Amino acid sequence: MTASPAPVRITAISGSIRNGSHCTAVLRSLDPLLPAQVKMEIFPLNDIPLYNADLEGDALPESVARMKASIAEADGLVLCSPEYNYGIPGVLKNAIDWASRPGFASPLKGKPVLVMTASPGTAGGVRAQAQIREALMATLARPLVRQHIAIPGVAAKLQEGRLADAPTLQVIQEGLDDFLREIRWLRNAHS
Ligand SMILES: Cc1cc2nc3c(=O)[nH]c(=O)nc-3n(C[C@H](O)[C@H](O)[C@H](O)COP(=O)(O)O)c2cc1C
Repeated sequence: MTASPAPVRITAISGSIRNGSHCTAVLRSLDPLLPAQVKMEIFPLNDIPLYNADLEGDALPESVARMKASIAEADGLVLCSPEYNYGIPGVLKNAIDWASRPGFASPLKGKPVLVMTASPGTAGGVRAQAQIREALMATLARPLVRQHIAIPGVAAKLQEGRLADAPTLQVIQEGLDDFLREIRWLRNAHS
């Protein structure tokens, strides 16, 4: 009898901490697109303090320790972020900075990341996406090299806090399929 493959764990992080966030709504929409053996946790950034190396003593701030543990235990990360002033929102950059320590040996090292951006505007946050990918590269994470997922006009594509736009769901489904293939490929490479 062959053993069933270990479940895949995904940590999802929204680049927005506001209650009605479109990006968090996009992440809430992913569960039905994932196979049953894939477990996804949305980790909110609300309690993450501003990065300060003075707080990186023996005991990290509790919220930061939880976030780093969630990333460390995950097989991969899914990010969905808005764009602020043509760039990466401070809360997300701040979280990446915390998660990136110790430099080049952090929980982000080697971690596959599916990056998505969303905006009520027409560009779908592509400028923020470029900056997010750049920051992830600095941490030695593995932002997926594939067609980018940028969701323009996101406000009109949500219904009751979930994505309800079939073409967008299809684009995301293909991205998730590539992401899971990458995770399984990395698992096989390391087994
Ligand atoms: C400070 C600020 C700057 C913004 N700059 C941009 C921008 O450069 N490009 C863009 O597409 N949207 C911009 N927006 C609009 C956001 O995309 C919009 O508020 C979005 O809903 C935020 O994401 P959320 O719904 O997940 O919170 C900006 C919003 C704020 C508050």
